Amino acid sequence: METSIYKMGNCAADDAAVSKAANVIKSGGLVAFPTETVYGLGADACNPEAAKKIYEAKGRPSDNPLIVHIAEFKDLAYIAKEVPKKASLLAKAFWPGPLTMIIHKNNNVPYETTGGLDTVAVRMPDHFVARRLIQMSGCLIAAPSANASGRPSPTLAEHVAEDLGGKIPIILDGGEVGIGLESTIIDLTEEIPLILRPGYITKAMLERIIGEVKTDPGILAAGDGVRPKAPGMKYRHYAPRASLTVVNGNKEAVIRKINELTDKMRAKGKKVGVIGTDETAKAYRGDMVLSLGAREDEDVIARRLYRILREFDEREADVIYSESFETQGIGQAIMNRLLKAAGHQVLDVTEYGGSKIV
Ligand code: TXA
Ligand code: MG
Repeated sequence: METSIYKMGNCAADDAAVSKAANVIKSGGLVAFPTETVYGLGADACNPEAAKKIYEAKGRPSDNPLIVHIAEFKDLAYIAKEVPKKASLLAKAFWPGPLTMIIHKNNNVPYETTGGLDTVAVRMPDHFVARRLIQMSGCLIAAPSANASGRPSPTLAEHVAEDLGGKIPIILDGGEVGIGLESTIIDLTEEIPLILRPGYITKAMLERIIGEVKTDPGILAAGDGVRPKAPGMKYRHYAPRASLTVVNGNKEAVIRKINELTDKMRAKGKKVGVIGTDETAKAYRGDMVLSLGAREDEDVIARRLYRILREFDEREADVIYSESFETQGIGQAIMNRLLKAAGHQVLDVTEYGGSKIV
């Protein structure tokens, strides 16, 4: 299959291209499109055959449910068994935006979309191309991130083309995404709402609107056997091809450890990549040292993370070492994705002393 890539204008979507894409969705096909978080791979959420095609194109396990993207708040009532009060409050505060809510579904959503679950994940994206595509197709759009299963989520249309080129008819190219990490997921079917995936909307932001919120212990624990509730969080994905280790601790100790490991690996003929920050990048001796940006600008770090993981793949790194990020803001989401990419390989070097890196 030939994949057409259409570049979108900056402020108004190119209606001709979006209309072509909308027709593909209507007729049960797949379209990759930009959102503010990462690129999505969309299909008609209410068409079971279309949803199946998503799993096929991504190579995604069929028990991993999809997020349904809507363009207007009233669309929520179309797929919800009932709209919880807390969903309305959160929608008012954060939609359109990087927040996905899990609620009980009704029969308008097929089980193919929800991976067999009676609940459905819903999000209203804050991106004019995504919203226009939903509106023009007249469908609700089921969309996981538009990467091949197991690879880092795409933050550029080029990433989508790398993973899905030849497998889907259309990619709408909206340039680099704004946020770069997937949406926060909150499960409203629990008595106390539960964060299943950390993201740009933090626990504190959610609690300001709806009171107490908990975080799924399965995503906090560093792979110690507690099972995460969101099926997708159990897979080692967001992952580069090289083996990635996160090194945690004080700044000097982290630099010393990473350099020590780098020398060892290079002596074995391995190509070593290092993920540092503007403050530290010059201190590393890796074959490829990439900076995520300045430590105090976590938005930039979030936006660059997946792109940098992909860059190491392209440059054929064998092993990658990364600094760690642990603040309560978006830093928590950055660290969550890094740990998943690393398959929870973490080296703790805090005992060496020195000034704290985070
Ligand atoms: O930012 C985002 O959310 C992006 C853009 C494209 O909107 N989408 C995205 O989708 O990240 P995906 O499929 O890569 O991740 C969806 C996550 C998976 O971990 C999945 O298991 C979880 O949401 N999920 C979906 N429906 C669920 C449900 N009913 N119960 C629990 N977890 C659910
Ligand atoms: Mg994904």
